[in-house]
Amino acid sequence: MASRELFSSKMGFVMAAAGSAVGLGNIWGFPTNTASNGGAAFVLVYLVLAFCLAYPALMAELVIGRASRANIVTSLRDIAGERGIPWAGILIGGYGVIIASLIYSFYSIVAGWMVAHWAESLTTMAGQSQWSEWLVAFGLKRNIIFTAIFMGLTMAIISRGVSAGIERWSTRLMPVMMLLLVVLIIYVLTQNGASEGLKLYLIPHFSDLKPQVFLSAMGQAFFSLSLGVGTMLIYGSYLSDKENLPQIGAIVTLTDTGIAFIAGLLILPAIYVAKEYGTNVFTDGGELIAGPDLIFQVLPALFGSMGTAGTLVAFAFFTLMTIAALTSSISMLEVPVSLATENTKIGRGMATLIIGSLIFLISVGICLNFGALFGWVINFTTVYSEPVLGILLCVFVGWLWHRNKVLNALKPGMDNAEQSLFFKIWPMYVRFVCPLLILATFIQSLR
Ligand code: PHE
Repeated sequence: MASRELFSSKMGFVMAAAGSAVGLGNIWGFPTNTASNGGAAFVLVYLVLAFCLAYPALMAELVIGRASRANIVTSLRDIAGERGIPWAGILIGGYGVIIASLIYSFYSIVAGWMVAHWAESLTTMAGQSQWSEWLVAFGLKRNIIFTAIFMGLTMAIISRGVSAGIERWSTRLMPVMMLLLVVLIIYVLTQNGASEGLKLYLIPHFSDLKPQVFLSAMGQAFFSLSLGVGTMLIYGSYLSDKENLPQIGAIVTLTDTGIAFIAGLLILPAIYVAKEYGTNVFTDGGELIAGPDLIFQVLPALFGSMGTAGTLVAFAFFTLMTIAALTSSISMLEVPVSLATENTKIGRGMATLIIGSLIFLISVGICLNFGALFGWVINFTTVYSEPVLGILLCVFVGWLWHRNKVLNALKPGMDNAEQSLFFKIWPMYVRFVCPLLILATFIQSLR
């Protein structure tokens, strides 16, 4: 255990954890959820829930991870073991690993589409229209090839380990992603129609606040902070004892919500700019087009109608999406890879290759039975399993750990841990409030 790798700096950890959190969930999920839940009122609810629910749940993972310095299975086994039920920890941790792997399997398919659209902007610039058509048409071969390319990228990073892989690439890619986001927002906001989208995004109508809005916002916050499946737990396990956990968790939450909010400034105005350019942005039922059609039809139609500038904007946009997806998916793959390297003699490179290839086969299975499996896997993992696992992780900290253990886990990097407001509120909060709130989300999703 002595040779366990750590993130080399606070900045490195923040970039990696924010890189995991900021992904398609922020740049696509959050704005489209906002569009389909009435706009600004959803944004307000989301911001409140991100801090009141997702942040405390994130802290549960970071605290467990750093205290036990191990993957989710080993950590939970040890905690449950002290209560004489190690098998419960192994089962729950194992469930988390399976869910992280399944999320990686569908996320890589979607990320592959982003890479294909990115490549299309290049073939369009090069005047290769037959290639462009193939790249953006939904087809089995294209889906499998681009899933493989994207997974290859994540495997290359993960095989290099914590500081030379995860940390180095997150630190390189995150600033590029933020820069692209800002450039794109400036561009879109100068186009006709943008202000209509901004109004929908920023001016709340409280009559829009239906119960459904709260529940969608909770699910969104949970997925966006990568909770429940052990990614934040394993990243926390690579965090040095010098760092103050509540503070660093708050920085990650702020970055994640901040970038989701900023992404809304791009996507919602872009929808209305597309309308101005003559693209149909409403469904037959009169709702704004959300989901995959928004990213793969409305926006490309907008880029297409903008001429040469549009091709450059498309290039920037799909680079942004690919980077966002990449820094998130490396954190998913790290969950099973860390389990394998910490519990067997297999080296990191080999473990990444074997596990990555196995999950690729799952992705191929999904591509082959797309209609039946794709939506099912997304629902099973994100709608059902993440909330259940979230409750269980809160139960581990709130109920299975003694208060003293929690205090000892917080102490490193936090001088006044015992007197802090955080320690006065948070342990009770994860014990009661978080599980109940998450349960509410879960019950809703069953309906
Ligand atoms: N947080 C990521 C996003 O918003 C998704 C994710 C979920 C990453 C679970 C890791 C684990 O896209």
